[in-house]
Amino acid sequence: MTIFGTRPEAIKMAPVIKAIDANPDTTPIVVLTGQHKEMLQQVLDIFDIHPDADLKVMARQQTLSQITSKVILGLDPVLDEHRPDLVLVHGDTTTTMAAGLSAFYHQIPVGHVEAGLRTWDKFSPYPEEMNRMLTDDIADLYFAPTQLSKDNLLQEHHPESRIFITGNTAIDALKYTVHADYHHPVLEAIPQGHKFILLTMHRRENQGQAMRNTFMAIRNVVLATPDLDVIYPVHLSPRVQQVAHEIFDDVEGVHLIEPLDVTDFHGLASQSYFIMTDSGGVQEEAPSLNKPVLVLRDSTERPEGVTAGTLKVIGTETEAVRNAMTELLNDQREYRAMSTAVNPYGDGHAAERIVAICRDYISGKLRHPGM
Ligand code: UD1
Ligand code: UDP
Repeated sequence: MTIFGTRPEAIKMAPVIKAIDANPDTTPIVVLTGQHKEMLQQVLDIFDIHPDADLKVMARQQTLSQITSKVILGLDPVLDEHRPDLVLVHGDTTTTMAAGLSAFYHQIPVGHVEAGLRTWDKFSPYPEEMNRMLTDDIADLYFAPTQLSKDNLLQEHHPESRIFITGNTAIDALKYTVHADYHHPVLEAIPQGHKFILLTMHRRENQGQAMRNTFMAIRNVVLATPDLDVIYPVHLSPRVQQVAHEIFDDVEGVHLIEPLDVTDFHGLASQSYFIMTDSGGVQEEAPSLNKPVLVLRDSTERPEGVTAGTLKVIGTETEAVRNAMTELLNDQREYRAMSTAVNPYGDGHAAERIVAICRDYISGKLRHPGM
C-alpha cells in the first residue's frame, strides 16, 4: 500500500506504483490522504493513477495538528480493511510521518522511500526535517537515494541490513514527463530574445518576511533588466498567493500563473535560463534538465547537488538574492559550470529496485524486524 497526500509525494511515488503494478508478484493499493487537492489531482491525471481510498483531509490554511490528527484517524479503517503486507510512504511531509505512525499502530511494516535526507536543523526545513527523522525511527525498510543519505541513517544507528541505496524516484518520473518539442501559452507572453527564470517558493519557514525579501529582490532585478522575465506558478497556499500578488502584480515581466501540471513544469523548466526555488524535488530534477538552481533557503538536505555544481544555496536576504541573480545572469563561466553537472540522484531505475526489495521482504527473503 502506498500512502501519500501532496504533489511531490505523488510525483515521486508514481513510478513506484507503476513498478508494483508491473511486477507479477505484487499488487498496488493506492491511498490518498488528500493533504493537497487540486495540486494532487494534477499528478494523478498525468500518471493515470486511480486511488483505492481518499481521506480528503485538506482544509484552507490547515494547521499541522489538523493534518496529523485527521490522517491518523482516517487511516484506521483503511488499514483495517486492506491489511497490506507493507506500507510505503515517501519523503518528509506531515502525511508521510502520520501515515508511518498509523501503519506502526496497526503493526504493519513501513518502507520509507527517500529516507535519510538531513539538514540536522529541526527547524529548517520546518516541519520536514522532524517528519523525516520520525519516519525513519518508525521505518523497517529504508530506500536511501544516495550514499550520503545512507551514511546519515547509519549515523543514527539504523540497521545497515535494512538500508538500500536505490537512487531517487524523481529521476524515474522524468521519463514520463519530459518531451523535446514542448510549448506552453505563457511563452507567447515572453518577448522574443528575452530570457526567463522559472520561480517556485512555498515553504512554511519562508512564509512571511523571508518570502517578501526574496520577492522584492526578484522584482528589483526584473525591473532593472530589460530582457529578463520570470514565470512563477504560484502554490495555492493563501499565505503564498497573497504575498506573490502583492509584490508582483504590477511588474510586467513577472508572469504569475496557476500551479502547473508536472509535464508543463518540466517543459518550462527545460526552456528556462535558470530556476529559483525553495522546493526539494526541483533541486533533484534540475541536474537532469541541465539547469542551474538558486536555492532560496539557508540550508539544503540535498548537498549532493551543491557538490555536483548545479545548486547554489543563496538564502532569502534581499541583497544576497539580488547579487546571486545578477552574478548568474552576467557570469557566463559560472552559468556554464552550473548547467553541465552529472545528476547525482540516480539512473532512473530506483522504483524497480524498491519494488524488488519489497517483494523479497514480503516473501521472507529479508528477515522481519522482531514483530
Ligand atoms: C506541503 C508539505 C511540504 C511540501 C509541500 C509540497 C507539510 C507540513 N508540508 O506544504 O513539505 O513541500 O506540501 O507542495 O506536510 N492548497 C490548496 N490546494 C492544493 C494544495 C494546497 O488549496 O491542492 C492550499 C490549502 O489552503 C492548504 C494550503 O495550501 O491549507 C497549505 O497546504 P499544506 O499541505 O498544509 O502545506 P504546503 O505548504 O502545501
Ligand atoms: N511542480 C509541478 N508544478 C509546479 C511546481 C512544481 O508539477 O507548478 C513539481 C516539480 O517538478 C517537483 C515537485 O512539483 O517534481 C515539487 O513539489 P513542491 O515544490 O510543491 O514540493 P517539495 O519538493 O518542496 O516538497
